[in-house]
Order: sequence, then structure tokens, then C-alpha cells
Amino acid sequence: MAGNPVTVIFKVNKKEDIHIDHLPEHIAIIMDGNGRWAKQKGKLRVFGHEKGSKAVTEVVKGCAEIGVKNLTLYAFSTENWNRPKLEVQTLMRLLVSSLRKEIKTLQENNIKFNAIGNLKALPSKVYNELMDVIENTKDNTRLTLTLALSYGSREELVNTIKQISIKVKNNIISPEKIDESVINQHLYTQNLPDVDLLIRTSGEQRISNFLLWQIAYAELYFTNVYWPDFTKQHLYEAIVNYQKRERRFGKTSEQLS
Ligand code: FPP
Repeated sequence: MAGNPVTVIFKVNKKEDIHIDHLPEHIAIIMDGNGRWAKQKGKLRVFGHEKGSKAVTEVVKGCAEIGVKNLTLYAFSTENWNRPKLEVQTLMRLLVSSLRKEIKTLQENNIKFNAIGNLKALPSKVYNELMDVIENTKDNTRLTLTLALSYGSREELVNTIKQISIKVKNNIISPEKIDESVINQHLYTQNLPDVDLLIRTSGEQRISNFLLWQIAYAELYFTNVYWPDFTKQHLYEAIVNYQKRERRFGKTSEQLS
């Protein structure tokens, strides 16, 4: 990116700007640290999730404001089903209430809502609410907001392999024709571009079974900020950091220039 002519659109702080012509097309976020944030304040973990849902709204708006086209948030993993029942119930309740509350914001901001994961495993109330919001926002074009729910990347890959195998067995596709685009078309993320920037909050530096295929060339950004404290400003700082990196996709610097 360095050396290209750029249009400055957004002053992040006194020294740094976001360049609109080099925005990541797809940002994915592992929203981590809700529990530790609450513990630090002497409160129950669910309080951290509640505050975390407010951070979701702020970050979605932040993406829409500057023109990021795709935002994918890891809200609930396949492994999260093993959490205490009360916490799982609270998260599900929070999800339904947030969707109901934010549908207006999604419509006003022309945001298309999407969900990926083993959605059938969700309580029917959550599933139905998700389907409603997906249907009601399907024609929006400014930003696609995807929530990963009951999502696990390995499970997604197993699913993909099963679907393609069935097509091979039924002579719908020949094994020689299987390439990266065929795999892409069978993932939950079939309509989304690869992830350009993956952010994880809370100081942990792991991928935790999130979008393993889709982050092949993503830039990784880790911050110590707990998710409930993550603001638009933090998001913009991550984008500024991303814009300073040279993405070579296996080539040399000389080839890029
Ligand atoms: C990780 O923090 C966060 C989660 C497992 C849930 C994410 C949920 C939200 C941000 C709120 C609801 C979301 C929406 C979309 C309305 P953690 O609980 O693992 O924190 P810890 O690592 O500090 O224990």
C-alpha cells in the first residue's frame, strides 16, 4: 500500500488518517474479554456480555460510516455451548433482544444482516428472529454484517467436504473440477470475500476455530482492550495499522511496486 496515491478521508488522531481507497473489504472480529471485563469490575460475566452488545452496535456503525463493506463477528462458537447453562441462556436472550432493538438501525443504515454457523442448533426463538432480520434486510447494500453463531470452522469444513462428496457421488461434479472456488461456494461464507483484517480483543493471540479457510491471507491484529471497552476509535486504529502493512500474497516487494 505504501507509495500509492491516497485520498485521506478520516482523521483518526493528530497524526494518523484512514485512506478510503485502501479499506479492508472484509473485517472479522473475535470479540473476546467480556467475562474478564466484568470480573475486573466485580460483576457477573453476563454484565460483560450486555456491555459487549453495545460495543457491537458502535463497531457496526463505525464500519458503515467509513465504507467497510463486510463485517463478520464471532458471537458464539460451537465450543461455547459448553458454558454454564445460565450464561448460554443469557447470551441467547441478549441476541434476540439486540436483534429486535437494532433492526431499525440496520434498516436506517442500509445494512444487510447475515448469520453463519450451525443455526439449526440455536433455540427456535433465536433462529426465527435471525431469519426475520435476514429476510427484512436482504436488499440492503451498504454493509453486510455477519454474525457467526454456533459456528466452528472445522465443522464448516466437514460440512463442505460432505456436500461436495455427495455431489461427486451423484455425478454432479467430477473430482478433477474441485478447486478453491468450488470449496468457497460450499462454505457458510459463500457470498463473502476473503477476510482482509482479523481483529482479536483481550490480549489473547489465537484463532479459536474461526474462519480458518477464509483468513488464509488476512492481516492479524491483536489488542489488549477487552471487547466491552472496544470503541470505534479502536477499530479505526486497527485499520490504520492494517493500511501500513505490505500485503505481498507470496510475491516480493519489488514485484508489487
Ligand atoms: C467472549 O468473551 C465473548 C463471547 C463468547 C460472546 C460474545 C457476545 C457478545 C459480544 C454480546 C452479544 C452479541 C451480540 C451480537 C448481540 P468471553 O466471555 O470469552 O470473555 P473472557 O475470555 O474474558 O471470559
